[in-house]
Amino acid sequence: MFTPSTVGKALDNIHLLLWDFWLTLVNLIMPRRKVGAVVPVGSAGYAGKWPEYIEPKEGDSRSCCPGLNALANHGILPRDGRNIKFTDMAEKVHTTYNFAPTFCRFVPTYAANMLGRSYKTDTIDLAELNLHNGIEHDASLLRQDAHFQSDQSKPDLPLIRDFLSFATGKDATDKTLILTPADLSRFSAKRRADSAAHNPEYTLDYFHKMFGSANSSTLLCIFGGRVDDLETFLMEERIREGWEPKALEHSGITFVKFNRTAVAVEKGIKEDLPEFEREVKEGGGGTSPV
Ligand code: HEM
Repeated sequence: MFTPSTVGKALDNIHLLLWDFWLTLVNLIMPRRKVGAVVPVGSAGYAGKWPEYIEPKEGDSRSCCPGLNALANHGILPRDGRNIKFTDMAEKVHTTYNFAPTFCRFVPTYAANMLGRSYKTDTIDLAELNLHNGIEHDASLLRQDAHFQSDQSKPDLPLIRDFLSFATGKDATDKTLILTPADLSRFSAKRRADSAAHNPEYTLDYFHKMFGSANSSTLLCIFGGRVDDLETFLMEERIREGWEPKALEHSGITFVKFNRTAVAVEKGIKEDLPEFEREVKEGGGGTSPV
């Protein structure tokens, strides 16, 4: 049965889709942003100058998302991580990471709907994003499953070290290690096999698989997969001085562009890879805490 609210949501999504196609066209026509000025003048992080990083203190609210936690750790979002307007979250994600306004609106709107709130008028504490099987899901790359790690707001450092050790690419100029789409797929396959073998409550439906591959693809599209920048971003949830988004599109990276990477990563995940199953069953190389 169609209710005014479901019709409203469907119209919003159609509007976002058309807007995203339009911005993709604009990006094809307009010149790309200049390295050194990817973040707009007047926004935090312009020319790679980031506001002071302060570790979260007792009582601050943090989430399972390194992108949002880093914004709070630098004071771009409120440092206590509380009472954040969904509309501010969208704006700060746009200026800081150069995601297109469509992406910046869709994900917070999804979170607002998940919590039964209004994107336009309501607020969120970051920890509310930790709702299991809302957006947060099992077999993530940076946190143990909720079954093993009740506080999803903190990065699991050994897991992240294992993840970054999967990098096989090298930057052509400075030889920095680079995570490739195939590396992301291999590590995701390992995580899924590991969770399936050890977590008695393991679930991961198609929707959450796609959300997972999309979230992890930000590390390629926005960070260029560079392990030196990612070590700081993922382990400390800090943005390095001088860092800028690698996406240079005039209107920011759109769904049309971004989804190509996310779909490729998801397609590359071979969950039945015998080598991972063997490793996990023999207890040699699984990263679950048991
Ligand atoms: C726009 C608002 C955003 C919301 C509401 C959001 C929410 C989330 C949530 C709930 C998760 C946990 C998913 C899981 O269980 O793995 C997550 C993970 C993640 N997010 Fe965000 N996010 C946002 C923006 C961003 C941005 C801008 C970036 C990067 C610059 C980012 C990067 C990531 C990464 C790398 C993960 C971890 C993926 C994994 O471990 O598999 N997110 N996000």
